[in-house]
Formats: sequence, C-alpha cells, structure tokens
Amino acid sequence: MGRGEDMAKIALGVTSSVSIYKACEIVRGFQKGGGDVQVIMTQNAAKLVSPLLFTSLSGHKTIVDLFEDDHPWSVAHVSLAREIGLLVAAPATANIIAKFAWGVADDFLSTFYLTVECPVLVAPAMNEAMYLHPQTQENLARLRARGVEFIDPDKGYLACKDEGWGRLAAPERIVGRGLELLGKTESLKGKTALVTAGPTREFIDPVRFLSNRSSGKMGFEIAREALLRGARVILVSGPVNLVPPARAEFIQVQSAEDMEKAVIKAFPKADIVVMAAAVADFAAAEPSLRKIKKLDLPEALKIVPTPDILKKIAARKKGQMIVGFAAETENLRAHALRKIKEKNLDLIVANDVSEEGLGFDSDFNRALILNGRGQGRPTDKVSKRELSRLIWDRIEESLGKKS
Ligand code: CTP
Repeated sequence: MGRGEDMAKIALGVTSSVSIYKACEIVRGFQKGGGDVQVIMTQNAAKLVSPLLFTSLSGHKTIVDLFEDDHPWSVAHVSLAREIGLLVAAPATANIIAKFAWGVADDFLSTFYLTVECPVLVAPAMNEAMYLHPQTQENLARLRARGVEFIDPDKGYLACKDEGWGRLAAPERIVGRGLELLGKTESLKGKTALVTAGPTREFIDPVRFLSNRSSGKMGFEIAREALLRGARVILVSGPVNLVPPARAEFIQVQSAEDMEKAVIKAFPKADIVVMAAAVADFAAAEPSLRKIKKLDLPEALKIVPTPDILKKIAARKKGQMIVGFAAETENLRAHALRKIKEKNLDLIVANDVSEEGLGFDSDFNRALILNGRGQGRPTDKVSKRELSRLIWDRIEESLGKKS
C-alpha cells in the first residue's frame, strides 16, 4: 500500500508488555483501514523486540529515544503531534498509564502524550493484580475524565501464567475503535460553528464593571473540539486569560452589546451556534464617562437588562442548530426545559453552578444535556474537554436526525 498525502496518520505507542507481538497486527490493521502508522517504542519495549521490526512494518523509522544523536526527536514530538489524527498506546503498561495520568514526561512517548491534541486511545495490558490495583484504577479514571478512550483488557491467560483480567484486547477491537475515533476528525467538515465564550463586562465607569466568574474554558474547549472535527470556527469571546485555538477566527468583545453585534454579524455564516458565554444579565443604566469619585458615590446603582443574544438569534434562525447553556443553582431540569421553550433551542447544556469544584473557573463540569424535546441525561463529572466531546456528539446526533 502506498502512502499518499491524504492518509490519516496514526502514532502507535508500544510499551513493554509480553503482548507486544500483537502490536504488529495493530500496525497492519490500521494500514488496512487506510492509516499511515508511526511507531513509538519505550526503551523497555525495545529490549523485548527490535525497533527494526516496526520500522519494516510501518515504513517509518521507529522512534525510541527522546535524545537520539542522529535524529532530533526532541523537536519531532512537536512536529509529529501536528501531523497525527490519533494516538494509540497498545499495549499500554501500568507504568505508561501512570505517566500519562500524572503528566510525567521522561521519554518520547510520555512527552508526546502531553503534546498531542488529537484523540488518544489506550489499550492496557498487565497482570490482573496490577490492573485491579486501586492506584491503577485511579489513574485510569483520571485519564477517562480527561477524555482518553480505553479498550478494556480481556480476561484470559496471562504471561504470569495466571488466568485473569489484564490481557490485551484483540487487535481488531483496538483498530476498529481507533478508526472510529479517526473518522470523527472529519465529521464536521463543511460546517461553520459560531461559538461564544467567557463573561462580558458591563462598565459602570471607565475603571469598574459588572461581570461574572466565567473563565471561558468551556467555550474554548467547544471551539477546539469543533476544529478537531473539521469545522470552520468563529469564536466570539469576552475578556479571558486563555490562548484561542490557532485555527479559529477569533473575535474579542467586552460588553453584551458588543457580543450581540459580533454574533448577529457572524450568524448568517453559521450552521451551528453554541452560546457558551456567560453573558452578563445586567448593565449600568447610565454608565459614567468619568471615574466616579468616592465623594460622589451614588446611593444606588440603576441597572438595566442586557440584550438576550440567544433569544434574538434563535428567533431569526433559518435551519441553524442553536445550542444554549444554562447556569443554575437549583431545579436544573425544570429551568433547562423552560429555557429550551423560551429561547427556541435545539439543545441545552445545563449545569449546576453551586456544586463545589465544578463549573465556573474549574477544569471539570457535570451537565444535563437535553435536546429540543427535553430528552437527555446528566453526564458524569468530566473534564471540560471531555464534556465538549459529549456536547458535539449530541449536536452531531441531532444534525443527523435533521438532515
Ligand atoms: N444568554 C444570552 N444573552 C444574555 C443572557 C444569556 O445570550 N443576555 C445566553 C447564555 O449564553 C446561555 C443562555 O442564554 O447560553 C442561558 O443563560 P443563563 O444565564 O443560564 O440564563 P438567563 O437567560 O440569564 O436566565 P435566568 O436569569 O432565568 O437564569
């Protein structure tokens, strides 16, 4: 099979399990599925099997060491990360899983994991006691919450001559799931997503404003995931301390009024709108052009509602899919259902912002995702990255039903 420009590139991380021989079949399986595989081995894996075997199978020099003399791999981990559509670790030992879970970067594979933005699939293989150990289970849960996908090991005959859990899953299963994940990278091709993020600032005077605790993380993750799935992304954001995804068309705004203008302008280009922004609900009725001096402090601040951007755009939708958010402190489902109706939404992502350590400013969240008919279930507590995947899966599901 030739290696054309349009072949999806897959990085296969191979670690030191006795089931390493099955990695050859995984390479072949991905190649048969149209993939171009670059193998990365840990140094211990290279003691079990010669890297040459994978070089011959894949047609690419197997990467082993981060600091090899004749190859500047220390830079390659960055350039390769941009090229690949999927990272698979199979077989994955308890050690590499622990390193991924805690961000240890002391060899090529673990360093590479921290560099990639694509989906990651891990197929564990180890002795049953190691697999079931609470520490390993905690590491797996940590990675799951971060959005890493797993192909759970099978029960069967292990190298330690025990019967038990921990046997590497069949290569066909690993390849099948890998190709599915890879397919997602094209699933929004040709679509334009308009995403809003962050808080807005409603100025009282030139130095003071009304705002809220939104960090913008959720909206930025939604934009990033849409880009990964091949969409064109217009990201309209209030003031946040985040770096926008490189390929997004980024529009920075301050107030709800600015955001409204930007959203209405971009709206005709959009197929899907995701309003993740925490638009401030009130603005000062008469903002002062000069700093209000302490001595002139008004007794009360007169406030007025800001425009409801979501309601306005949903009222003028022509086939677009409109996704709203709801931040609530009580009666999550009831408020979400009301907002679907009031704002004419196709999907709502409702979250309870009173839960400690979740939502505002956190990397984690739990949400109730409901479609326009009010159907749906709450998610587990997951990272905002993983939640953005679940949201796009639901959007794509609804898009499929629409077309
Ligand atoms: N929203 C908007 N414009 C506003 C306020 C909110 O477009 N002025 C959008 C948000 O981006 C979010 C959704 O409306 O997608 C719901 O926001 P939320 O603050 O939960 O609800 P509110 O409309 O403010 O309603 P309530 O005060 O009853 O909670």
